[in-house]
Order: sequence, then C-alpha cells, then structure tokens
Amino acid sequence: MDATPKSPELVTCLNNALENEHAIYVQYLSHAKTVKGVDARLVNKRLRRLAGYHRRHQKKLRYLIADYLEAVPSMNMGATYAADNLDTILQTNIKCEGAAIDNYMKTLALLDRQKEDLPYEFCKIDYALKKIIRNDQAHIATLKKLRGA
Ligand SMILES: [Fe+2]
Repeated sequence: MDATPKSPELVTCLNNALENEHAIYVQYLSHAKTVKGVDARLVNKRLRRLAGYHRRHQKKLRYLIADYLEAVPSMNMGATYAADNLDTILQTNIKCEGAAIDNYMKTLALLDRQKEDLPYEFCKIDYALKKIIRNDQAHIATLKKLRGA
C-alpha cells in the first residue's frame, strides 16, 4: 500500500491492540491445554471459546486498519503470560482482559479527539471498538465466575 495512513497515531494504537489480540488468542489456547483436574474438559472448552472471540477481534482490527485507515495490519505478537494451574490461569487472563479494556478505552479517547479528521470512518471504528470492549467485559465476568469469586 502506498497511501499514507489517515491517522498514524490511531493506526499505531490499533496495531498494538492487534498484537495483543494475537497474544491472548495463543495464550487462551495454550492455557486450555494446561488445565488439569476434574473440571479440565469444561474449562478447556470455555477457554477455547474465549480464544475464538479474540480471533474475531483480530479479524475486525485488520479490517479497520486496512480498509478504513489504509494502513498495514501488524503481524507481530504482544506479550504472553504463562500460568500453571487453574486459579493462576484465570487470574492471569482476568488481568490481561482488564489491560486490554484499558487500552481500548485510551484508543477510543484518541479516536474521539480525531473525530473531525475521520468523518467517514469515525462511527464504524467507534462501534467496532466498543463491541470489542463489551466482549472483553463479558470475558472478565465469565472468568470470575469460573474462578468462583
Ligand atoms: Fe476478551
């Protein structure tokens, strides 16, 4: 792509978010395979389901970055965190989901400041990011419930 991105700062934020979505997707799949014990099958299924949401978040972010902001979606990977038992797995992912929500909130604030420059993109990006945030908030509720807290 030879066009200049519409909002380089926003593209950087969305690409960082994409890298974190790559990371949490892999993290959920790896954690799903790590779970042992009587509830292993159930937890494995729930974690793989959560991974699926993050695969879809990646797809949405790539779409926004490429088709709406005319930039190149990142192929890099954010940080991942190991965990070796069910409680640590759930705690780790609750923390990661929270950090993702905080980052999306910051990106939304940036998007809001650039609203005037993105008359044909703003609503689409705003709606998509808020949907991802709603999903991640539901993920925290699911993880907390699994944790029994
Ligand atoms: Fe999530």
